[in-house]
Amino acid sequence: MVDQTFTLGGVRFQNRVFVASGTFGYGDEVLDLSEVGKLGGIVTKSITLKPRTGNRPRRIVETAGGMLNSIGLANIGVERFLERLPGLLELGTKIIVNIAGSTFGEYVEVLSRLEEGEGIAAYELNVSCPNVKEGGLEFGTDPHAVETITKSARERTRRPIIVKLTPNVTRIGETARAAEAGGADAVSAINTLVGMSVNRADRTSRLGTVTGGLSGPAIKPVALAKVRECTMAVKIPVIGIGGITTADDALEFIIVGAAAVQVGTASFAEPNAAACIAGGIASYCERNGIASVEALVGSLQIPAPPRLQT
Ligand code: FUM
Repeated sequence: MVDQTFTLGGVRFQNRVFVASGTFGYGDEVLDLSEVGKLGGIVTKSITLKPRTGNRPRRIVETAGGMLNSIGLANIGVERFLERLPGLLELGTKIIVNIAGSTFGEYVEVLSRLEEGEGIAAYELNVSCPNVKEGGLEFGTDPHAVETITKSARERTRRPIIVKLTPNVTRIGETARAAEAGGADAVSAINTLVGMSVNRADRTSRLGTVTGGLSGPAIKPVALAKVRECTMAVKIPVIGIGGITTADDALEFIIVGAAAVQVGTASFAEPNAAACIAGGIASYCERNGIASVEALVGSLQIPAPPRLQT
């Protein structure tokens, strides 16, 4: 048996493959389509203080090797989420609640309310949504804001805190360090890249908000590089996200240094993708005589540069 477990802030997950926020609803919508019991956990759609209807359509556009979204943090709000939580805790996997806010105070209010709910495994602070006017990238591109939000959250909970980082910065290592300084247990990287798609026929943007967030296989090489930068910047675990579709993709992130991974866009085409990826990682380890996935984390080999003959 390969040891696939992952422990974060004292919480033990059965494996290192999670479904990413915004791709699995709150978890219960996909029960008939996916073996959720085989997941490390479900990261919920972002929860805000009040329900949000989200951005005007069109909110999703397919692109070459990817997908643009501009959902605008549509969600049911923390009160209705708490009513639904007991059912989510019976799904047979761990629930990580993703929290978003338009102000620093909103993160704290949502988290404080969630603290009253039993059974939540961890929180993921979304400081990186590219599709909202207030909060979102405004916070995620500012290391001081990232540290302040994380610190305020840390003061109010003993549950593990993951901070989800944006790639839309020059140096993601700086925001990763800010999250670590604020007391985060882990960072997750990357959220989507700002992008757009244009319809030549009527010269309009295909998205209602003009720009959106790009995800899917098209962003995997960027995500790998950003994950590597994060792992070099911080000591806390880095959770890799970005175009992971197969177990081979996930293994690349783990080799680069990701302690765990989240599967996002791939779940839209195949809701069972993440569960299959968890199985595929275990099979790879078995085939290669690797007893624990931990042994692969950060095992990237970087050959020494050739010596110049003088
Ligand atoms: O538009 C959205 O709801 C996207 C959120 C995110 O990328 O974090």
